Amino acid sequence: MERTSQAQTLRELSPVLRTLFTAFLLTIGFGYLAAVFYLFLVDIDPHLKMGMRTIAGIEMKYRGQPSGSRLEAALRGAMADKLRPEERDTIVGWVRGGAKQAGFGQIKPILDRNCVACHNAKSGLPVPPLDSFEAVAKLAETDRGPSLAQLARVSHVHLFGLSFIFLLTGTIFALSTAAPAFKLTVVALPFVAIWADIASWWLTRYEPLFAYVVFGGGTLMGAALAVQILIPLWQMWAPHSNATAATVQPSKP
Ligand code: HEC
Repeated sequence: MERTSQAQTLRELSPVLRTLFTAFLLTIGFGYLAAVFYLFLVDIDPHLKMGMRTIAGIEMKYRGQPSGSRLEAALRGAMADKLRPEERDTIVGWVRGGAKQAGFGQIKPILDRNCVACHNAKSGLPVPPLDSFEAVAKLAETDRGPSLAQLARVSHVHLFGLSFIFLLTGTIFALSTAAPAFKLTVVALPFVAIWADIASWWLTRYEPLFAYVVFGGGTLMGAALAVQILIPLWQMWAPHSNATAATVQPSKP
């Protein structure tokens, strides 16, 4: 205990630590934005294009396709204008009949005529190919959402990864001079949100209302992260003013 006047606030940290914390917080912040962008591209935008709302999209992600297969959902949704209704009914009949190789001879000309121009491996579009029986049969499988093994995999990766992120951002944020009750809330909230979010991935399979919790949990986590990043950045680098110094310095006996 040679020194009792150890740095107490973020502003008083050494430039080395402030630089390290800043680089870390900015990197996590950009990582989060990239994750949101990825979610948008993979999970939200395709569903919006199919005319679904975000919540319905989340529900489908974890419960599977209510109308059975991805192929049928596309034929009734985003791809409905790409073929004539009687052609659609032929394909849907084949899908519902079990998508057997024997019947594919009837389906292939319809696909070749209406779909394969875009749906082939060389088109450069981010679309599943429709030019072989195997590829079409895969899309004709009933989509029941992720398996328990897949859910367990994404769950443990997220639980481990997110808890480390929020341990570190939370620790930095705890060094800020925000009000103690506010700090406590902002430090604890993301963990509650992680539990609620990930539990809801599992529960949405059985009860679609939990899709709202997935959405709410994710939003809450993002908001908490933004606070945990922005307040420390501000306190480390904003020009020092006596007014704030007076209000934030805890008085010591
Ligand atoms: C003009 C190009 C084009 C044509 C023609 C086309 N599609 Fe698509 N298709 C797309 C694009 C782009 C996507 C991915 C983005 C989207 O969902 O809007 C897509 C997505 C799909 C999907 C995937 C949906 C999912 O679950 O991810 C299926 C299945 C599909 N199309 C089937 C068909 C069928 C069947 C036909 C023919 C009747 C067809 N498409 C014709 C461009 C096309």
